[in-house]
Amino acid sequence: MSLGSENLGFPLGRPARLAVLLSGRGSNFAALHRSCEEGLVEGRVVGVISDNPEAGGISIANGAGISSHVVDRKMHATRDSHEQQVLKTLTSLKPDLICLAGYMRLLSENFIQAFSGRVLNIHPSLLPSFPGLHAQRKALEHGVKLAGCTVHFVDAGLDSGPIVVQSSVPVRDDDDELSLSDRILEKEHQDYPRAVRLILNGAWKIEGRHFKSF
Ligand code: GRF
Repeated sequence: MSLGSENLGFPLGRPARLAVLLSGRGSNFAALHRSCEEGLVEGRVVGVISDNPEAGGISIANGAGISSHVVDRKMHATRDSHEQQVLKTLTSLKPDLICLAGYMRLLSENFIQAFSGRVLNIHPSLLPSFPGLHAQRKALEHGVKLAGCTVHFVDAGLDSGPIVVQSSVPVRDDDDELSLSDRILEKEHQDYPRAVRLILNGAWKIEGRHFKSF
């Protein structure tokens, strides 16, 4: 990924327009929205896009009066045509930052370039360990003693862009997938707003894979 050394023009001097892409429950979206409402993040969620019409996140958006858009993967013959539609919808929202929050699709290099690399994701593991699906289960199976979450810039790889924020949680001997996921999720809800706040304040740069705040 070549984000260069610039900081994408942040700070903006006005509330940032955040767009959220999700496929399911939407608890990270809700945490981001709450942080905007509480003033921790100087921004506003201007729209939510889901590839899944049943996503809980869509109901949360509707309840909060945030514009919601379903771009159903099943209605598109190819990945490309689906992505084009998502791109079109996102463009109409004029986002300053795009937050993937449980969005279950890989984005193409073209898509990421279309938004000049201003796409973030949250993943429930200490990357680069356990990218992809079922990260918490893989961590348990591997027998790690620390698990956690990572907020990172998105590149065309799988959970592989520069890391912005990471937090760890202990793994207990009696953990199962659910208990570990819950412990990690609590951190996710703190870390995603923290990472967005950090990015919006503009005091950072990326060198190679390294996100450096100052
Ligand atoms: C979170 O664990 C996130 O890290 C992962 O997908 C899950 C989404 O949960 N990418 P929610 O929809 O935000 O509640």
